[in-house]
Amino acid sequence: MDNNKNQYQHRRVVVIGAGSVGATYSYALAQSGLADEIIVIDKNKDLEQGQVLDLVHGQPFFPSVNIRSGSTSDYGDANLIVITAGVAQKPGETRLDLVRKNAEIIGSISEEVAASNCRGVMLIVTNPVDVLTYIALKRSGWERGRIIGSGTVLDSARFRHLISSYCGIDVHNVHAYILGEHGDSEFAAWSMTHIAGIKIDEHCALCGKCSDWKKQQSLIEQRVRDSAYHIINYKGATHYAVGLALVRISSAILRGESSVLTVSTLLDGEFGIKDICLSVPSVVSDKGVNKIVSSPLSDSERASLSGSADILRKSVDSVLLT
Ligand SMILES: NC(=O)c1ccc[n+]([C@@H]2O[C@H](COP(=O)([O-])OP(=O)(O)OC[C@H]3O[C@@H](n4cnc5c(N)ncnc54)[C@H](O)[C@@H]3O)[C@@H](O)[C@H]2O)c1
Repeated sequence: MDNNKNQYQHRRVVVIGAGSVGATYSYALAQSGLADEIIVIDKNKDLEQGQVLDLVHGQPFFPSVNIRSGSTSDYGDANLIVITAGVAQKPGETRLDLVRKNAEIIGSISEEVAASNCRGVMLIVTNPVDVLTYIALKRSGWERGRIIGSGTVLDSARFRHLISSYCGIDVHNVHAYILGEHGDSEFAAWSMTHIAGIKIDEHCALCGKCSDWKKQQSLIEQRVRDSAYHIINYKGATHYAVGLALVRISSAILRGESSVLTVSTLLDGEFGIKDICLSVPSVVSDKGVNKIVSSPLSDSERASLSGSADILRKSVDSVLLT
């Protein structure tokens, strides 16, 4: 019996930022049954209270979970801290102004989390996610791996959906990754794309449905890149699919799954890139990223990854050096 005594681990998730993304994630996480406790924090206390009340009224329908408001004193015992806090661009404000403001918000939150002696994982969601993951690492002093960004997990899901719908194959049988920056320089790693274990080009030759696969590939890649712009134009924010992508990452962390996910992580010489956070296939488990998969990318994919790294380096420098 004693051996079983400590097998139950109370899984506490703190969500900082209760806007569209934070609230949708909290809702999806509550439904997943992965967490025992979900603590919601927002600097807008009315919004925080409203979101918590709305969520707790769902408790009879959720798997057992405690949902409540919180404060910095809740960081210490958290297994996972998910940061969606930030400000949106205002009219007349440049992107750089926005980066600086969000860098200050994420920088100070990550310092507070580090000061709490939390032994969990920080997951950054606020954009620009790769730059802010880097800032959080530098400001917290945490070891790489324990701070990750949601990166291109969402973009890879969009990519899989588009291939699935074009090829008429269940999305669960499509393995495909978007790598690099979560942003305009991201790219599709076609060399790693498989349907039912068959390389996509071979599958295409066997299928014979279309005569212009190369053109379709570039259209699919462009649609992935433009997805967020389209959704934001239609309804002002993206939140459902990102909420689910965050639950997928949370599952890998809370259950120690060693799942391969394209989270944003600090590279230290992998793929010839050093000291920048971006998305590559990474093994995610209870301590965050514990390994980066050395995927054999094609020469042009390697060049695209380096291109993303250069763009992110400039963005990081613009925040740190000005
Ligand atoms: N990484 C991804 O894949 C992805 C996808 C979608 C959105 N996002 C990003 O997620 C972020 C949140 O998006 P949203 O639509 O939920 O925005 P939102 O404006 O609805 O919510 C942001 C919330 O953060 C709160 N906040 C600001 N500063 C805070 C602080 N210091 N402490 C606590 N709370 C604070 C605000 O009060 C607000 O409620 C944005 O940066 C957005 O670009 C990322």
